[in-house]
Amino acid sequence: MFSPDFVTGIERLIRSELVNFVGYTASKAPETLKGKTEVPVEGIIKLDANENPYGCSPKVNQALATYPSLNIYPDSGQTELRNLLAGYAGVGAERIVASGGSNQLIDLLIRLFVGPGDEVINLVPTFDVYRFSTQIHGGTVVEVLRDKNFAVNVKAVKAAIGKKTKIIFLANPNSPTGNITPQKDILEILDTRLPVLVDEAYYEFSGKTVMPLVSQYENLMVLRTFSKWAGLAGLRIGYGIFPPRIADYLLTIKIPYNVNVAALVAVRESLKDVDFLLDRVKVILAERERLFTELKKLKWLKPFPSRTNFIFCSVLNGKASELQQKLQDKGILVRYFDQPLLKDAIRISVGKPEHTDALIKALQEIGEERNV
Ligand SMILES: Cc1ncc(COP(=O)(O)O)c(C=O)c1O
Repeated sequence: MFSPDFVTGIERLIRSELVNFVGYTASKAPETLKGKTEVPVEGIIKLDANENPYGCSPKVNQALATYPSLNIYPDSGQTELRNLLAGYAGVGAERIVASGGSNQLIDLLIRLFVGPGDEVINLVPTFDVYRFSTQIHGGTVVEVLRDKNFAVNVKAVKAAIGKKTKIIFLANPNSPTGNITPQKDILEILDTRLPVLVDEAYYEFSGKTVMPLVSQYENLMVLRTFSKWAGLAGLRIGYGIFPPRIADYLLTIKIPYNVNVAALVAVRESLKDVDFLLDRVKVILAERERLFTELKKLKWLKPFPSRTNFIFCSVLNGKASELQQKLQDKGILVRYFDQPLLKDAIRISVGKPEHTDALIKALQEIGEERNV
């Protein structure tokens, strides 16, 4: 892009390693597409960020509507929040740290462990924020390739470990591919004794967790979020489970008041309504199976089995970027990938049944236009 030699003005004083930095590609906000789709903004079907199509618990909306103290800072030490989250996760509060979305904790963990020249092992293709935050902090990403079904190659992980390795990131289930890593592989990675972050952003959909292992492995850290199962992506609330000493360090280096009071209220109310929210998770899981069956009927897409609230598909005929654009024109947003490791693939979040119907109809029309 730019060479530091051509950068002038105050720009020449920014950290030179960030001059060509590749940012994270975030999902599109529907309002930015005004006038660019065949449907009005209100009609856009958003299947690009694995949000919960049913929204949050109604208890959250009710409590926020009458919350009296927005003028007062939250408790920076997160006392009530940590206790609430500890109760839900089934661990002691001394292990919990909360953040404005689990993304923020990924960044914080990297700040804690990774300095310039340190290495982070990333099991690619995977969630791009691990790369993003590592590079921002001057660390080096060591990529270990997953196999053709996106399974982790544990032998290759061990071979990639060097003197500068500081942390291993494992999204489980993985994003954007949706598959799970078996516990025996995770145990083998934990036996390296390096810090391991198991990112369980989709835990409530997968039902698989390493949480029972946290007291046995002092190098195990687990990441969770309220964005997906609890429908709170817009409010930004995530948390992690850490060895107590690491939790203390994270609380010390985080910015003050990193979780807002609305998020605390939302957690309090969501946790009063867990059964209701988990019933909705079941509805989403049933819809995922229907979506998978429907996608399979389209011979030009190859959907992969998923343990999450999204389905990853290879596009067997044509370019994923064109498919994404055609769907967007029709008012349906999906995520596409066109990188060396993820050539021509799309990721579709599971929506409501009517969203599946609209998506499949649009895909059939696009397929007919393409004569496939
Ligand atoms: C694997 C994974 N981890 C973490 C996140 C971040 O979630 P949030 O910052 O909304 O808690 C996501 C979001 O898509 C994800 O897919």
